[in-house]
Amino acid sequence: MIYLDNAATSHPKPEAVYRAVDAALRAGGSPGRGGHSLALAAGRQVLRAREAAAKLFGLSDPARVIFTASATDSLNLALKGLLKPGDHVITTRAEHNALRRPLAALEAWGISVTWLPVSDRGLLDPAQVRTALRPSTRLIATHHGSNVSGALQPIAELGEIARRAGVFLLVDAAQTAGVHPTHMAQMGIHLLAAAGHKGLLGPQGTGLLLVDPAVDLTPIREGGTGANSAQIAQPAIFPDGFESGTLNVPGIAGLAAGMAFVMEVTPEEIRRREQELAEALLAGLRRLPGVKVYGPEHAGQRTAVVSFNVEGLDPGEVEERLEERFGVIGRAGLHCNPGAHEALGSLPMGGAMRLSPGYFTTAEEIERAVRGVAELAAR
Ligand SMILES: Cc1ncc(COP(=O)(O)O)c(C=O)c1O
Repeated sequence: MIYLDNAATSHPKPEAVYRAVDAALRAGGSPGRGGHSLALAAGRQVLRAREAAAKLFGLSDPARVIFTASATDSLNLALKGLLKPGDHVITTRAEHNALRRPLAALEAWGISVTWLPVSDRGLLDPAQVRTALRPSTRLIATHHGSNVSGALQPIAELGEIARRAGVFLLVDAAQTAGVHPTHMAQMGIHLLAAAGHKGLLGPQGTGLLLVDPAVDLTPIREGGTGANSAQIAQPAIFPDGFESGTLNVPGIAGLAAGMAFVMEVTPEEIRRREQELAEALLAGLRRLPGVKVYGPEHAGQRTAVVSFNVEGLDPGEVEERLEERFGVIGRAGLHCNPGAHEALGSLPMGGAMRLSPGYFTTAEEIERAVRGVAELAAR
């Protein structure tokens, strides 16, 4: 099997991740659920994971690292915990449904949203963000890397625009966390939503929301916090007030091992390797007659996500045949992001086929995948 669906979930994981999940599950204990040794040990393990995430993403206070179930969960908390009726948000028309749908739902609650277009390569023009600012603007919310076009948005520039305007910047880093060096303080990011199971190499069912100390967030889910139990109102304290319910300790332990791997190899080196693979994939596919490749021209402007269509074939057929005949695993369709396909022009085809290499992909696997697409295109 040639696994090229790392944009959905990275696979395989580093060996240390499998070991950490197993060990945490066998150890037992949940943070804040008792004063016994198992609960305390689990609490220390989760605290170390928070400290690692804060360090990796340049956040000063590890208590403001909130563990969630997914990037979707993180984005819902960021938007619904921050915005109030009357607030204005600037976003793009090319957001994943994880950001697009909660924002659309909030429009019904009196929050106004400006949906900016992206180019036919998937890129956002920061000048349009500047023009869209209003006195009521509270938030700029967008993705760092697109899960369809692979386009990398100019986050540091958006951070500067947000700083000057006195508004917050929320970044959906689902596709970039762990791969593209991201420093919240240096890039002016106030809220960073990440999946734990993609570039951070942790297990599915894990996600993170990192919140800058300048942001006043309200919990959106009530329940047990371990502490402050006598009080009926949900305590808005970081991180417990935002993590009600028993934590996914095995998942977080696996995520911590994934982050440790990323920090040891360094995001710079992971990015270098993935960019090399993406360049080879792009070059190979672009040479094929009848194959249309989407997204920014240069690998430097994109994540290792390559979407394409084969003339005369439905993207779903490409997905099926690539796996059946060549053992290549990728993902076809709209990728939960119809707006990105609309901008690229692939919406009428029902989307595109997407191949996404990861850190463990080899150059030979890329060559074999390109040969597979070449055979399909040459029928
Ligand atoms: C850009 C982007 N945002 C959000 C998500 C949602 O991530 P999760 O499945 O962890 O909720 C994804 C997942 O593919 C994504 O690519």
